[in-house]
Amino acid sequence: MFKPQKLSSSIRATLKNLNRSMSKIPIRKDTATSPLYNLDAQDCMVREAKYGAHNYHPLPVVLHKGKGVHVWDVDGRKYFDFLSAYSAVNQGHCHPKIIQALREQADLITLTSRAFHASILGEYEEYVTKKFGYDKVLPMNTGVEAGETACKLARRWGYDVKGIPSDQAKIIFAEGNFWGRTLAAVSSSTDPSSYEGFGPRMPNFELVPYNDLSALEERLSDGNVCAFMVEPIQGEAGVVVPDPGYLTRVRDLCTKYNVLWIADEIQTGLCRTGKWLCVDHENVKPDVLLLGKALSGGVYPVSRQLNSHQQSSFYIQF
Ligand SMILES: Cc1ncc(COP(=O)(O)O)c(C=O)c1O
Repeated sequence: MFKPQKLSSSIRATLKNLNRSMSKIPIRKDTATSPLYNLDAQDCMVREAKYGAHNYHPLPVVLHKGKGVHVWDVDGRKYFDFLSAYSAVNQGHCHPKIIQALREQADLITLTSRAFHASILGEYEEYVTKKFGYDKVLPMNTGVEAGETACKLARRWGYDVKGIPSDQAKIIFAEGNFWGRTLAAVSSSTDPSSYEGFGPRMPNFELVPYNDLSALEERLSDGNVCAFMVEPIQGEAGVVVPDPGYLTRVRDLCTKYNVLWIADEIQTGLCRTGKWLCVDHENVKPDVLLLGKALSGGVYPVSRQLNSHQQSSFYIQF
């Protein structure tokens, strides 16, 4: 246990802030049952504040277990989880079928590396490409890697197929986008809390206002543009739904100007919006589709990039 008198002033300040924000949260004290863990919430938060990097601002609730739509904190208080780990556990916490599959595979062989083939990899690749109507899939771990790889694919395609002069390829993003926290991802961000202090930015990443088709058309008409990457509904920006027809026009414009449309469905995909993909609401197909989060039911970090044959022959060299 931590001795409060040994805490540094910055940790004491962090705790003070935690307590202040905790007091604003309407937690019903009578819902706590009995503690589920040998440390109370305060101890857990102090430990995180002391040893963990301060890169996030979690709510002052310390979760200990989850089942379906419910989670419990260390004091035994039960909650509905409406956040679902930002959609990584859309299937619910500890879904029995997914946990069972994880256990069986972990017992059989946990990891193979890409130096060898793996018995079920091809089966998985066939299943997902057929399910979403693409030719090739590249599995990865995090969503941001899927975005990074899509940018690499687009640049390579731009040089080898579209004929963009070397090192001149541009990628267009929508203002308010969020696709992770790597240097490339924050280079396209319009949120100072994401990019400030991490410069210089990736060159040739350009922005257009979200849901603005004439601004987009003007950008796409630049012959050095290889891709437009966009979330069909923006998540981090505050759940911004575009006008009806936006996605259809994005498809048309990307086709007209020979630009790859990269749809970031890492938040919106896999039934989050009521259909398998958000783009299905307008029956349109991006050139490159990014999926992640709920892809593994939250039990393992898995993402993927799906694309059609015209582009796929390029990324095998990555
Ligand atoms: C739309 C979108 N794209 C990409 C990402 C990055 O995914 P990951 O956190 O798995 O790297 C996120 C994460 O929240 C996201 O919301």
